[in-house]
Amino acid sequence: MQLKNARILLTGATGGLGRELARQLSAAGAQLLLAGRDNARLAELSGSLPTLSSSVRADLTRPEGIAAVAGATREFGVNVLINNAGIGNFGLFDAQAWDTVAQVLATDLAAPLRLTHALLPLLKAQPEAAVVNIGSTFGSLPFPGFAAYSAAKAGLRGFSQALRRELADTRIAVIHFAPRAIDTPLNSDSMVALNRALGHRADSAATVATQMVAALRCERGERHFGFPERLFAWLNGIAPSLIDRGLSGKLPVVKRFAHTP
Ligand SMILES: NC(=O)c1ccc[n+]([C@@H]2O[C@H](COP(=O)([O-])OP(=O)(O)OC[C@H]3O[C@@H](n4cnc5c(N)ncnc54)[C@H](OP(=O)(O)O)[C@@H]3O)[C@@H](O)[C@H]2O)c1
Repeated sequence: MQLKNARILLTGATGGLGRELARQLSAAGAQLLLAGRDNARLAELSGSLPTLSSSVRADLTRPEGIAAVAGATREFGVNVLINNAGIGNFGLFDAQAWDTVAQVLATDLAAPLRLTHALLPLLKAQPEAAVVNIGSTFGSLPFPGFAAYSAAKAGLRGFSQALRRELADTRIAVIHFAPRAIDTPLNSDSMVALNRALGHRADSAATVATQMVAALRCERGERHFGFPERLFAWLNGIAPSLIDRGLSGKLPVVKRFAHTP
């Protein structure tokens, strides 16, 4: 896909990965509609970009938020939707309040589906279009301590694959991009400590954004970023009991950090 003059809706634009995506997409010549929840940060980001950009403030877990973004999108003439907004969540499932679990599902799964649903008529009318869903390694390698987040990201992966197959006879590319840990504010102190204790590497937002932009450019349907995580995710698909056994050894570490305030 041509990024020069593409018109892209980017959700979670003021977050760690979002800011880098905005910067790199704008540098590639794309025009951006930035979605976030804080007007001041949206304005500051918009003012720092070299190409035309606009912004819309919306909480994507609320119907009025989806409606606001959909309205702004029609005005902007968007041809690429990047579902990047998301929240993290670390803790043992039975120790979490249901409201927390519900917020993860609403933000990381229901919101991208709803937004895609609202925008598809507009995308179908474009000569060239794409939907990019930012998943996670945990969507293919579900991890103890991340049950709700893994469920949401696995759901997003399934949605992306089904939609890609459903839109195969259209000009809309559907891209599922799944990074491993990224060094952004999404990771709480206990998540950072857990990653360190388990030897999990975290990539910079700039590195991940570069890979995501490349996946969009060449319309690569599936991109799982990070090794050996990619290998373990594949193995989990064909022999999950091997991964069960491997991760059971890590459970005491997960429990230790899950109980850290
Ligand atoms: N960081 C990682 O380790 C990691 C790894 C794999 C995948 N990912 C995925 O990468 C994506 C970007 O995450 P990040 O690391 O950049 O996290 P981040 O720095 O915390 O940014 C998340 C963004 O999502 C927005 N957001 C959260 N809830 C929202 C809501 N209800 N309505 C509208 N916007 C909302 C936030 O808006 P505000 O700016 O208004 O708060 C923020 O801009 C997420 O989908 C995440 O799951 C992250």
